Amino acid sequence: MNSNWQAKLRERQALGNLRKLRVMPPGGDFCSNDYLGLTRNSAFQERLMNLLKGNPALLNGATGSRLISGNSDLLENIEKAIANRHQQEAALLFPSGYVANLALLSCLPQKGDYVLLDEQIHRSVHDGCRMNHAQQWKFKHNDLAHLEALLQRCNGKIWILVESLYSMDGDVAPLQAILDLAKQYQAQVIVDEAHAIGVYGVGLLAQWGLSDQVFATVVTYGKAMGSHGAAVLGRATLKEYLLNFASPLIYSTAMPLISAVTILEAYRFIEKHPKLSGQLQANIAAYQALNLGPNAQKTDSPIQPWLMADAAKLKELSNHLLREGFQVYPILPPTVAEGTSRLRITLHSDNSIEEINALGAILNHWNHE
Ligand SMILES: Cc1ncc(COP(=O)(O)O)c(C=O)c1O
Repeated sequence: MNSNWQAKLRERQALGNLRKLRVMPPGGDFCSNDYLGLTRNSAFQERLMNLLKGNPALLNGATGSRLISGNSDLLENIEKAIANRHQQEAALLFPSGYVANLALLSCLPQKGDYVLLDEQIHRSVHDGCRMNHAQQWKFKHNDLAHLEALLQRCNGKIWILVESLYSMDGDVAPLQAILDLAKQYQAQVIVDEAHAIGVYGVGLLAQWGLSDQVFATVVTYGKAMGSHGAAVLGRATLKEYLLNFASPLIYSTAMPLISAVTILEAYRFIEKHPKLSGQLQANIAAYQALNLGPNAQKTDSPIQPWLMADAAKLKELSNHLLREGFQVYPILPPTVAEGTSRLRITLHSDNSIEEINALGAILNHWNHE
């Protein structure tokens, strides 16, 4: 019997990075991606309950692929409304951001093409790229000189793949400069805005007036939008292409209508309550003002890494914080590079200043340890 997979589990156990399911104990949320606190917002929940009243069928399954029985006027109208909000020709919904990236990257880059990815890009992008036959090269995180050096070596159609706000370091991509390079080398840019949507309006591309310069955008709804699912945004012909060639969409049951309805409601709710992102920005400023020492890699975003190379010590700190009523999660290799284990502290609209200060006091105490 080949017990290689069991040996791999034992190896992880020995290294101390065996992943396990756990239920978060109660506490202040400093680990979820629910940046605007929508999943615990009673006004938002009430809106959803009202939508369900008189239309319980929204809760049912979609019964088939989008291309067979899983489509509806409602779903198509919601996609039109999403596309309008992003000032794009078309939007195509997916059951998750992971699947959206698989769908897009499995079929878009072709044999003979070049795919240049930021080394910090999300795993779903890498996994999508494993499904295509293009040449793939990683460039150093946000490093324009390295990106240009790779661009010079390409000899075919080029795709550049980046996130706008990076999920582990909480920093943003120099999107304008990347787009300028792309123009110079006739490359197409695809931007994953999973962590930016909701935090910065409908995303950083829109905020910076760059939406019309990218080939495609991926937005996800399981983070600040407090829901689930994702959309690929772009030209109508891109949507048509995905409907014809993206296996993860074609051979899978469409998302249930309740998810799509919730997504549209999340757009409306966030538009009507700009206070939510204002509170989030105030909490980011409160965290930045803390005296935290060198372990804290302060950023301007809701994602605030607290680095501690010693994974065992990091887990000790994390358990201590959980006991003290702070929900945090240690991120270890292979999710992040060796030597960069961290608490990925996330801030939310509904964290109180008192709990941010109390978290800061504990972190400060553990500084350097
Ligand atoms: C940048 C990025 N893209 C895509 C995804 C996947 O999205 P989802 O959780 O909806 O599958 C994530 C999830 O963490 C992400 O961080």
